[in-house]
Amino acid sequence: MTQNTRERGTTLVLGGTGKTGRRVAGRLTGLGLPVRVGSRSGEPPFDWQDEATWAPALEDVGAVYLAYAPDAGFPGASDTIGAFAARAAEAGVRRLVLLSGRGEEGARRSEQVVRDCGVEWTIVRAAFFSQNFSEDFLVEGVRGGVVAFPAGGVAEPFVDAEDIADVAVAALTGDGHAGELYEVTGPRLLTFAGAVAEIARAVGREVGYLPVSLEEFTAAMAGQGAPPEFTGPFSDLLADILDGRNASLCDGVRRALGREPRDFAEYARATAATGVWDA
Ligand SMILES: NC(=O)c1ccc[n+]([C@@H]2O[C@H](COP(=O)([O-])OP(=O)(O)OC[C@H]3O[C@@H](n4cnc5c(N)ncnc54)[C@H](OP(=O)(O)O)[C@@H]3O)[C@@H](O)[C@H]2O)c1
Repeated sequence: MTQNTRERGTTLVLGGTGKTGRRVAGRLTGLGLPVRVGSRSGEPPFDWQDEATWAPALEDVGAVYLAYAPDAGFPGASDTIGAFAARAAEAGVRRLVLLSGRGEEGARRSEQVVRDCGVEWTIVRAAFFSQNFSEDFLVEGVRGGVVAFPAGGVAEPFVDAEDIADVAVAALTGDGHAGELYEVTGPRLLTFAGAVAEIARAVGREVGYLPVSLEEFTAAMAGQGAPPEFTGPFSDLLADILDGRNASLCDGVRRALGREPRDFAEYARATAATGVWDA
């Protein structure tokens, strides 16, 4: 951490109750740094869909962690992120760390508006999160013993949200990360069947992977109440990122932190111990 970190003002953590933001906010608080959680349940509330909430959230803020919801790759995301980044620059924010996604055209546009906003930036372009199995849309499948997902036999270098948070905090608080694009993956390629097998081993019971079509998966999401404004773009995004384009390892964690990323097996062991996957 640099000497003047404490003079930088509050860090606004957007998505600060989510998978990565919660971890970023926790680390910053642990370092004794002032943090404001930016989300609809934050104080003051922050809503991407309500620009009137942006200025109060940006008051006295020196740095922003930007995890956009629902997804930096969705249609329109780059427009909203660009508008917010301009407001952040006007408000005196000096550092912006964007969470982006690998292999997503829309996310590339969101990266570009952040690069162009005039504030010192770092981009963390992440692989598929391991925590999607424990804190998001795949957790019920694990609990129920069948993870149905339209990934066929494609390999993915699952990345741990703990590593993403470490990289983000380094970029928010340290020197040498300005203008860096960190493409962050785990240390190993795994198929979804392989990842689910690691989870089954860790929980000590049968959990299987069921490859389904994108149409079947989308219909199941809709059946559980997901609105078409979400299922449409999400299906398009999955079609892109699950076509094999992301089946390679990147060195973002090592470049940012000087250490190797956490392996999926370690994530599975630690997560099983929390009981979140208990049937
Ligand atoms: N999942 C992956 O595998 C993956 C991979 C690469 C990149 N990403 C990127 O990760 C980002 C999401 O980050 P995450 O997974 O850490 O978050 P998350 O777990 O999806 O949580 C969403 C966060 O955003 C907040 N939120 C939801 N709707 C909001 C709104 N209208 N206005 C303001 N805040 C809102 C939520 O809090 P409230 O409900 O309190 O508002 C919560 O803090 C996306 O942009 C995506 O592109 C994800």
